[in-house]
Amino acid sequence: MVNTYPDVGIQSRMNRIISPKDNRVVMLAIDHPYFQGPTTGLRNMSNTIRTLMPYCDCLMTTRGAVRANIAPGDLGSKPVMLRVSGGNSVLFDELSDERITVGIREAVRMDAAGVAVSVFVGSANQQRTILNLTDTINQAEDYGIPVLAVTAVGKDMARDLRYLALASRICQDAGARIVKTYFCEEFSRLVDSVAPTAVVVAGGKYSSPPDALKMAFDSVEAGAVGVDFGRNIFQDENPVGMIKAIGAIVHGNHTVKEAMDIYQECLPRASKLE
Ligand code: R5P
Repeated sequence: MVNTYPDVGIQSRMNRIISPKDNRVVMLAIDHPYFQGPTTGLRNMSNTIRTLMPYCDCLMTTRGAVRANIAPGDLGSKPVMLRVSGGNSVLFDELSDERITVGIREAVRMDAAGVAVSVFVGSANQQRTILNLTDTINQAEDYGIPVLAVTAVGKDMARDLRYLALASRICQDAGARIVKTYFCEEFSRLVDSVAPTAVVVAGGKYSSPPDALKMAFDSVEAGAVGVDFGRNIFQDENPVGMIKAIGAIVHGNHTVKEAMDIYQECLPRASKLE
């Protein structure tokens, strides 16, 4: 029998991740402990999740973080982009040496909206990590689960258009439904080179509210469907103000100045996350 709706599961989950109303998403990246341990802002993970979850569209996190910090009743209120690659730590220089750490059956059991795999193009473990991605896509698509590919950048790689477009295109060709990458000069050329695959932008190390908001603004203006920021939200002194301001840019097309006004309005009630 011919399956006339072969992608219905994928599409349904994609709609949970990226709003079909405006084709945009504010994803909150809180998966860092999988290799960084209890990093600043994520030491008290349940408080961070409780504080920020209402303002994001999707949580990018790990199996253990969900299990330990999200009550079953709250799970499902926001879609989870489940990180399924890892196996290393900041105590080892070569972070690219990753394997698949969570199986697709577990992702189904957890009702993950999508699964995320890092790919380290140009690293010592390039082939392994690309095959981590393709193997995951082969299995996840069978269950209607979209795969987000993270273009992880080794310390020797330049975060320029040439490198990031190469890495992003490899992820698209592998079959990723969403590519997460870093912002760079001429970013619209990267977005064009993987169109129509959705692109979300990682925030990188903590910078400053105006700089991070400008990156969010420039990313969506260049055609990204949104951001998947972590440290620039949960390490800011005003994390709720920051995520609200990002939401105003991504979903409300606010300018950086308007978003900074939203940030400032929240500042008097702000408290830093542990
Ligand atoms: C890195 O591999 C992780 O997926 C992080 O979630 C990602 O780098 C985004 O977080 P940040 O905005 O802190 O860079």
